[in-house]
Amino acid sequence: MGKQRLKSGEKILFSIFGAFFVLGVIAFIGMEVVRSRAPTPMFVSTTHFNFSPVGLEGSKIYREARCNSCHRALRMGTNMGLNLDGIGSRRSLQWIEGFLNDPERVYGASTIDHGSALAGPKEANYVAKLPKEDLRKIAVFLSELTADSGSAVARAPPQERSGFIDQMVGTFAPESWKEKYKDVRTNPRPEAPPEGGIDAKDNEQK
Ligand code: HEC
Repeated sequence: MGKQRLKSGEKILFSIFGAFFVLGVIAFIGMEVVRSRAPTPMFVSTTHFNFSPVGLEGSKIYREARCNSCHRALRMGTNMGLNLDGIGSRRSLQWIEGFLNDPERVYGASTIDHGSALAGPKEANYVAKLPKEDLRKIAVFLSELTADSGSAVARAPPQERSGFIDQMVGTFAPESWKEKYKDVRTNPRPEAPPEGGIDAKDNEQK
């Protein structure tokens, strides 16, 4: 039997696939060429870490304790839970350690996955049951994951004054907010988050 010839519909379909494939390859090569020649890095890293010996120990326990199955940190893990990169710039060490030990009390609200050892069947209940010493080391590790101010995972706004933000505040912030809230940009920026970290209320506004 001789080779079957392609039907015209099949030819069109394969050509379209082929065209997409070729375009994809060209675009990829183009992007890599531009990226390798760019004078500044295309993707600037805004999160940092600098581990103390205890923090390093904590990072090991963190990896073994399956935190990565819900969280993301240091380019590992999933996006199902919260991204923990930069958490050291949002929460204090004391807050993080408190949360790991007693999530509901520190959140001041009911939690989804973390819970005290006694709370119902939550998936991350086991965290609060880990040895206190391990939780302390994990907390030290997490507090050493910091972020540049102004980045998406930091609490502090950008260092420089932004005309865009000024304009947005001028347009959308009601007058009453001026008495109710403090403009974080006018305060000297604390290096570390306030004692006790930022409470759940602050978090909701993000
Ligand atoms: C089953 C999924 C899951 C696992 C496993 C898990 N977490 Fe979480 N984590 C969450 C969710 C969801 C939240 C938000 C709080 C809540 O509702 O439970 C959270 C919140 C947190 C927070 C507070 C973040 C913030 O800024 O509010 C920290 C810190 C944290 N987790 C650390 C850990 C560590 C350390 C481990 C491993 C020992 C771990 N988590 C394992 C799901 C998980």
